[in-house]
Amino acid sequence: MSTEVLHREHRHFAPDATWVAQANVSGHAAYLALVREAERDPEEFWGRLARTYLVWKTPFQTVLNDRNPPFYRWFEEGTLNASHLCLDVPIERGMGEKTALIFESDDGTVTTLTYHALHERVCRFANALKSLGIGKGDRVIIYIAMSIEGIVAMQACARIGAIHSVVFGGFSAKSLQERILDTGARLIITADGQKRGGKIIQLKAIVDEALSMGAGMVEKVIVYARTGENIPWDSARDLWMKPLEESQSPLCIPTWVEAEHPLFILYTSGSTGKPKGVQHATAGYLLWSILTMTWVFDHHPEDVYWCTADIGWITGHTYVNYGPLAVGATQVIYEGIPSWPHAGRFWSMISRHRVSVFYTAPTAIRSLIKASNLDPEIHPQRFDLSSLRLLGTVGEPINPEAWMWYYQQVGNSRCPIADTFWQTETGGHVIAPLPGATTLVPGSCTLPLPGIDAAVVDETGQEVPPGHGGSLVIRRPWPAMLRNLWGNPERFQKTYFPSELKGYYLAGDGAVKDPTTGYFTITGRIDDVLNVSGHRLGTMEVESALATHPMVAEAAVVGKPDDITGEAIVAFVVLKQQRPAGAEAQQLASTLRQWVTREIGPIARPRDIRFGDNLPKTRSGKIMRRLLRSLACGEPMTQDISTLENPTILDQLRETL
Ligand code: PRX
Repeated sequence: MSTEVLHREHRHFAPDATWVAQANVSGHAAYLALVREAERDPEEFWGRLARTYLVWKTPFQTVLNDRNPPFYRWFEEGTLNASHLCLDVPIERGMGEKTALIFESDDGTVTTLTYHALHERVCRFANALKSLGIGKGDRVIIYIAMSIEGIVAMQACARIGAIHSVVFGGFSAKSLQERILDTGARLIITADGQKRGGKIIQLKAIVDEALSMGAGMVEKVIVYARTGENIPWDSARDLWMKPLEESQSPLCIPTWVEAEHPLFILYTSGSTGKPKGVQHATAGYLLWSILTMTWVFDHHPEDVYWCTADIGWITGHTYVNYGPLAVGATQVIYEGIPSWPHAGRFWSMISRHRVSVFYTAPTAIRSLIKASNLDPEIHPQRFDLSSLRLLGTVGEPINPEAWMWYYQQVGNSRCPIADTFWQTETGGHVIAPLPGATTLVPGSCTLPLPGIDAAVVDETGQEVPPGHGGSLVIRRPWPAMLRNLWGNPERFQKTYFPSELKGYYLAGDGAVKDPTTGYFTITGRIDDVLNVSGHRLGTMEVESALATHPMVAEAAVVGKPDDITGEAIVAFVVLKQQRPAGAEAQQLASTLRQWVTREIGPIARPRDIRFGDNLPKTRSGKIMRRLLRSLACGEPMTQDISTLENPTILDQLRETL
């Protein structure tokens, strides 16, 4: 049943006339014209855009092959190459000497690279990969920090048709190894370490540890020398990136691939089982990267664009690597963290590099609000942010108060905010305002992009009335949608296109549509997926990690709201031994936190661990998660607990350490 959502936000901000005049999509009527074109004849619409915005080696004939849903195929007969689009095409269009990347390291050193220079590095490295026998369809794991080298590695894979799978540097050896095995990767590209917040963090050592658990098909490990620290070396397997690259020719003809050739696999958490290898196709994904850069980020040639996401996440794929390069943008990439050496780092970088378009996560905004309340010296108003013209957010719902602060204090009440809703699976933005066309409402991601048939439905796929909450779906296929889960088509079909939902794409988020404006507000995940600092984690993943500890009998994990991180992880644990108390409980909680960090990575580390003799369960043995959520939040319990076998455990589980 849908529930009526009563809260309404009344503040709204219409685009001003100068913005409308210069925008790529100029005015609401222009937006509506695109929406109507897409509704009238979706294939005609997508076909037109794919012919206009992509550069094909061989043209396609069929826009959409939907004979075997949900295994849709787009632009089937066409061939192209992603790296050609991102490098050769901007150069052919006269942007060879334009700066592509402005890299700022943790310690503030700046390195810039033109499109020509990046092209040369990518070609040399692509040739190096070829010299190691890597070619079309081979999987390559990239485990590296934010760096020029990370982008070179992704682009080089794309150039030769190899399928990259980037693993975020914060994942543990075990998580890395699972991805190495699942992809069947033949090669790993990594760095000796990374620099973050003045510290050095090992990367190669984690790769070594992962491979020592079983290397699968991995033959070689290429290492970018970032820190220069001494690291263990296997001379039969390991190779330094620089000499390898420099010995190669700077020319590498792109390997033309079919439109549907997988460009990459990126793992993300679901509500059940192991992380899923989301597989994206070359042409449809690139088309949407370019269109959303043009429509939502209103890309203009003179922009200096900065997306703070790491390349280990989808945002870093679409809005650091592929999208900005494919439109010939100049972009900033940053190695470190927002709080180093002070929490004004983002603002000082915007000021120094004259950034005009800035895209970050609500969790970062909230932590910077807190920091600038404590220290007025690093308040954004202390910096020259006059270069900014557009702001964006992604990763989780943004609360209206954080939105207002971002708008007023960072954007000086003159920069629109694009609150972009999307997912690893959608490839790019799906619900987002167009800055020169859409009136903004804090906390709402506003309207679906042209061609995206989003709706809020009940359990049977029926649309619920506006003002009522339901499940967010996308009813028609679109070119950037995921194509499969690597090696698991059944799970792909079952998870995203459940039969009761008429074949619609199921996002896994709750949403509500405003009765007057039709604007969407995302209310958060409706499955057992947590969102901690904009990172997705399955409760079951964390529970399984805890359960492998020899002392743990059973564990249940829920999220509780957190002012900075959105959600924080709370774990309820039953030990095989007696329930611990006092210092012993503290000690065990710390051991278990470290255990989860080792098993998954620091992002999965529980904030709060509570011990009980048992977990609250229904008669049929199902854990009462809603009850646990109330306990985690310290809320009064409204649930019926009459069926609970041992109500005293609730008192135990209420106790924080
Ligand atoms: O719950 C939604 C939330 O992040 C999830 C997708 O996470 P991931 O695949 O890791 O991709 C994050 C970056 C695209 C969604 O299911 N989410 C993302 N953006 C928003 C959001 N929730 C509300 N508003 C957003 N703008």
